[in-house]
Amino acid sequence: MITNRLSRWTPLFFLLALVNFVGAQALVLAGVTWPATSLGAAGTLIAIHLLVIGWLLLLVLGALFQFVPVITTLPLGSQAAALVCLVAVEGGLLGMLAGFLGVAGVAPRLAWLLPAGGGVVTTGISIAIWNLGVPLARARPRSLPGRMVTTGLAFLVATVTLGLLFGSVLAAPAAMPGLAPILGGVGEHALAGLGGWFTLTAMGVSYKLLPMFMLAPEDRGALGRWVHVVGATGFTLAVLAGLAAIWLPIAVIVDLRRAGDLAIGLAVALYLWDVRRIYRDRKRVSIELHNGVAIGAFAFLGVAVALAAIAAAVHRLDAVAPSLVFLIVFGWLGGLGIAQLYKIVPFLAWLVRYGGRLGRGPVPRVQDLVRDGAALPWFIAYQVGVSCAAIAAVMHRPVAFRIAMTPVAIATIGLAVEYWRAWHATYAGTAPNAPPAAAAGPVTKHPSLLINRGDRP
Ligand code: HEM
Repeated sequence: MITNRLSRWTPLFFLLALVNFVGAQALVLAGVTWPATSLGAAGTLIAIHLLVIGWLLLLVLGALFQFVPVITTLPLGSQAAALVCLVAVEGGLLGMLAGFLGVAGVAPRLAWLLPAGGGVVTTGISIAIWNLGVPLARARPRSLPGRMVTTGLAFLVATVTLGLLFGSVLAAPAAMPGLAPILGGVGEHALAGLGGWFTLTAMGVSYKLLPMFMLAPEDRGALGRWVHVVGATGFTLAVLAGLAAIWLPIAVIVDLRRAGDLAIGLAVALYLWDVRRIYRDRKRVSIELHNGVAIGAFAFLGVAVALAAIAAAVHRLDAVAPSLVFLIVFGWLGGLGIAQLYKIVPFLAWLVRYGGRLGRGPVPRVQDLVRDGAALPWFIAYQVGVSCAAIAAVMHRPVAFRIAMTPVAIATIGLAVEYWRAWHATYAGTAPNAPPAAAAGPVTKHPSLLINRGDRP
């Protein structure tokens, strides 16, 4: 049964992820985050973790719970575990946010919630890794997307381990004085999370989704394998050498860190070249809106890496690092996320509503559940806003940054409404060429945000 391929809790992951995304943007617009305040301000740390854990982590885990069974053709360890993971990650995140207020001195008595909340988030992530690891470990042969996701998960473990260490040191500095220098590894924590985890995973998932929806060859050959190996080596080298340099800043370690950075740049260049090949070799003539919009996200990734290379060459990497984080979080990962949601949400809605009716009369197409004309202006507003905000950030113009972020926030809400409409099949049957069954009236099921019990694998 087609609906057996559904991950029961994925829609709820997406809903919460969007709520967190909007919440983080509200903090940016309120001026309580960088660049209006400092990088270490409570508002900045709260917003960044709302973005990376609340938005991106929930989005990626929700998508992986749906797509790892597709990549491996094997079921998850457990559907119920996905719900436990969701509750732990969101609940732990709320604790962490209170803890950031504590360590920043706003509400000192809450400081303990930083390591405690981080511990709960880590528990949720461990459950997700087990749940995804069951099919990933059993799959034979191991596909490139599967291998890249596995590597990404290893970096996720490194990221949260470092985060937990930071949280413990900040919450109880007197208890572990010897560990205080680890706080110098914030850059490595960010690199392991945004690069090793999110970027390698997004690359791996895109190697499945782009060819699938554009009818392009899925086997990426040697180039795809190089992207994985060079990228994984680069992130490993950069993170380990960067951490080692905190205690041992000798030339050879600093050089290893640079070699890691170079390998990361090379892997991204190879990947973008390969993505260009996928678009060029596609069999589907017209590019669907979500894949058209994704080109903007790939461009943001390229711009971020080019900016990093230029800044490193003129010894200004530290100064542009926050702008790089912004470009990666909002432009590359966020841009790809909102684009892919525009396909994944109607795809899931279609499976739930019409999957069981396949072969028993006409049903609408997945494409009939969305209206490109309504979504396109939001995508444009988002990408133009992020571009302007990135320029304002590089030029240290906090007011201009917030003005540029206004259309980004409005577009995010506009797109969330479009996803909601797709989920509820609001547009089905309204297109001029819609099949009669779509226009004929009630659908077989009206999915709540939780997929019906009977649809569980
Ligand atoms: C996907 C997971 C995560 C990612 C991508 C991530 C990313 C980041 C980034 C980009 C920063 C730098 C923010 C800035 O400079 O303003 C940061 C700082 C920090 N993160 Fe995370 N983080 C993650 C998980 C965690 C977890 C689970 C904890 C546990 C408590 C944590 C604790 C911290 C702390 C304490 C800081 C500030 C360190 C300091 O200012 O000295 N992070 N994180």
